[in-house]
Amino acid sequence: MQQSKQYHGSGQLSAMLTLALACSLALVGCAGQAPDGSSQGAEKPLIQPQNWPLQSAPIARNQQIEDKINALLSQMTPEQKVGQIIQADIASVTPQQVRDYYLGSVLNGGNSAPGRDNRVGAAAWLQLADAFWQASTDTSDGRPYIPVIWGTDAVHGHSNVKGATIFPHNIGLGAMREPQLLHAIGRATAIEMQVTGLDWTFAPTIAVARDDRWGRTYESYSEDPALVASYAPHILQGIQGMPGAADFLRGEHMLATVKHFLGDGGTVGGKDQGDNIDTEAGLRDIHAPPYYSAIKAGARVVMASYNSWHGDKMHGFAPMLTDVLVHRMGFDGFVVGDWNGHGQISGCTPTDCAASVIAGLDMYMAPDSWQALYANTLAQVKDGRLPMARLDEAVLRILRIKAEMGLFEQVKPSERPLAGRYELLGNAQHRALAREAARKSLVLLKNNQQLLPLNTTGRVLVAGDGADNIGKQSGGWTLSWQGSGNANSDFPNGDSIYAGILQTVTAGGGSVELSENGRYSQRPDVAIVVFGEEPYAEFIGDRSHLAFDDNRGLQILTQLKSQGIPTVAVFLSGRPLWVNPELNQSDAFVAAFLPGSEGGAVADVLFRSPSGAVRHDFQGKLSFSWPDNAKGEPLNVGDAGYKPLFAYGYGLRYSDNTTVGQLHENAGISADQMLNASRYLHAGKAVTPWQLQLLDQGQITRVTDALHTSARGALTATATDRLQQEDSVTLSFAQPGTVLLTHADGVVLDLARQSNGDMALELEYQVLALSNSTTTLGMQCGDNCSANIDISGQLAQMQGKGWQSMKIALRCFSEADSTFDISKVTRPMVLQGSAGLVLQLANVRLAQNEGNATCGN
Ligand code: BGC
Ligand code: BGC
Repeated sequence: MQQSKQYHGSGQLSAMLTLALACSLALVGCAGQAPDGSSQGAEKPLIQPQNWPLQSAPIARNQQIEDKINALLSQMTPEQKVGQIIQADIASVTPQQVRDYYLGSVLNGGNSAPGRDNRVGAAAWLQLADAFWQASTDTSDGRPYIPVIWGTDAVHGHSNVKGATIFPHNIGLGAMREPQLLHAIGRATAIEMQVTGLDWTFAPTIAVARDDRWGRTYESYSEDPALVASYAPHILQGIQGMPGAADFLRGEHMLATVKHFLGDGGTVGGKDQGDNIDTEAGLRDIHAPPYYSAIKAGARVVMASYNSWHGDKMHGFAPMLTDVLVHRMGFDGFVVGDWNGHGQISGCTPTDCAASVIAGLDMYMAPDSWQALYANTLAQVKDGRLPMARLDEAVLRILRIKAEMGLFEQVKPSERPLAGRYELLGNAQHRALAREAARKSLVLLKNNQQLLPLNTTGRVLVAGDGADNIGKQSGGWTLSWQGSGNANSDFPNGDSIYAGILQTVTAGGGSVELSENGRYSQRPDVAIVVFGEEPYAEFIGDRSHLAFDDNRGLQILTQLKSQGIPTVAVFLSGRPLWVNPELNQSDAFVAAFLPGSEGGAVADVLFRSPSGAVRHDFQGKLSFSWPDNAKGEPLNVGDAGYKPLFAYGYGLRYSDNTTVGQLHENAGISADQMLNASRYLHAGKAVTPWQLQLLDQGQITRVTDALHTSARGALTATATDRLQQEDSVTLSFAQPGTVLLTHADGVVLDLARQSNGDMALELEYQVLALSNSTTTLGMQCGDNCSANIDISGQLAQMQGKGWQSMKIALRCFSEADSTFDISKVTRPMVLQGSAGLVLQLANVRLAQNEGNATCGN
């Protein structure tokens, strides 16, 4: 056992770098880490590598490969080496630049696709893959031959590509409890990726999500480390093949990534990119087991996590990236960073961060920052701030994997066996597999009087906004980053839940009526109501509580139930949420999670065959504990005082005659706690703690049920029906005035990341009457800080055209006024109008720019 060195609170960057360097070069056993200087006094826990199980590298080095990559390295200039460790996003780099800067890799982030079109045809992907490959392998200037690799987030199927099979998100696969099926899913995903010429997926996520407020909970198989650890080898080997086999990483297999290392699922409050303050043992025993098993199963790429551990960002944390990952877990591949994640280390920026490589990062993910990062890194190599030995090591690690993939003998993407076989995208076999997985991932929470399975002979009402909505059932990371903006037509190889029900019921002699709001033309025998969370990804999905606060499903259920119609709820969500009111209004309740493109799976399970037999029983068991209140405090199997509503492992079968009684409806949180970071106005009402206010000649009136006229009568706000009772507000301007959304407690919003991530402020509105003067939509950042955008033109265009959505890209506010500070928003909506304007408003929220956002007129 090596002697541990411990550094406390020196706060010296140089000490950190020296130590980290020593660690990364394996000169010393590195137990301590130099803190970021902020920890004066407070004792931080340390990583003691000797406390971590020692695992030997599962894949023996291959001498031929070693010779090859060392020979290559010896021919490489510093420029070529630096380029090799940088990955740029296809939205910010051209093939020519890949060549000019010798870049080792490109990626398409969640919102970048060829031609900036998230729904572009598959051929465009393959064409671009060829262009990057050819640029990187043109050796006419005498450079060594090193192909670029292209990474993508194929996180539930090849989910960025239109027409691909979309598998259930990991949370549903966890409920399935059938790790073997993951192998087939990995294989199918790899095959579909190769149709488009891509080499590498940033999947699987093997996070152990412990706080379901985290926006990435659905990317996690389970809250239970053992379950995640048991899944990891199957999905990995499905994608990559078996280590040692001739087709490992080759043929129909390709490169995978396990992410995000380490502790992403255990941050305080479930905050994405937040701080994990588990003890060392907690980090090791909860978050590390899946990595041990994945590395043993052949994981070749590990993605560093955005999160920190007791304040130390993983991207710069040698004790984990090097001492534990490489020297204890036996990892022998390369470490890729996350999207500008290196820029979050203290002392770093996205374009300048030698410390990350020194700590053990091998490839920077520098989507839009790559060019300046290249220049700075090269300078650091030249003057020794980034030691050549460490750079060489990173390059070798990358080249080793490229060699294992057979890339040096490979032909260009379009000439590979599966390339261009577009009929393989969403092919019948893959869709059948996805449908099987979706079927098996459904969890039956309630089935009173054994209402299910249903007969196909009756009259079935299908309701809810999730019923005929493949985008909603697929969730985030689907075609677009947030999974927003998808229409059914964007899934040429997919079925909505309704489509599956229609097919099954009509084949069985019954009839189906689809009605989003639940109003029917003929009284049904049974109603299936499909509702749930809107798609989201990453931090956009973070919440401060677990109340399901979109009550449209509840309204429909309540209405039907009051008429004595038996109700089946199908709940689409990325996590367990507190839905006691909805459970009470349902006779049967299915937690469907995010089943993906094969909505037909739901009917497969809900309906009997025409002969009356059960066709498919429920198989799913919760892999996350279901909460009995909305507080959102971590609730995990094995916790002291564990009191879930439905325990880990719960899930009814058709043979179970279990009654779920009337549940209490006390959410356990106050309205003030229901802050929803990205929704300000919902169904015509300000979402607590936001307030809808009317500003009339300097005087502010808060709109309440009782009060809806501004101080001097310039403005009125009237609750109005849209789809449901009073689900919108009509704003009438008799005189000039302003309608505001203001935080009740004066909290200031930092929307910088959202702005960089190309989010927009979305208004769902209808123009009832226009004024003759300008209407502006703005935001405020304090008393004398604002940006206002003229929207008169859009309003004029849409007058009398019914309900519309208007998206103003967040960046437009900064562009409109250089003094505006998007990181200090006090009022996310400031609507200024004048006499004559009548506007009906339903929702105001942040939404992804799907190419449909504007900067106003
Ligand atoms: C996410 C990763 C993802 C990467 C590339 C990051 O923001 O955290 O999971 O692989 O972007 O899109
Ligand atoms: C995501 C990327 C996405 C980007 C949008 C990142 O955080 O991970 O995949 O495309 O933000 O700018």
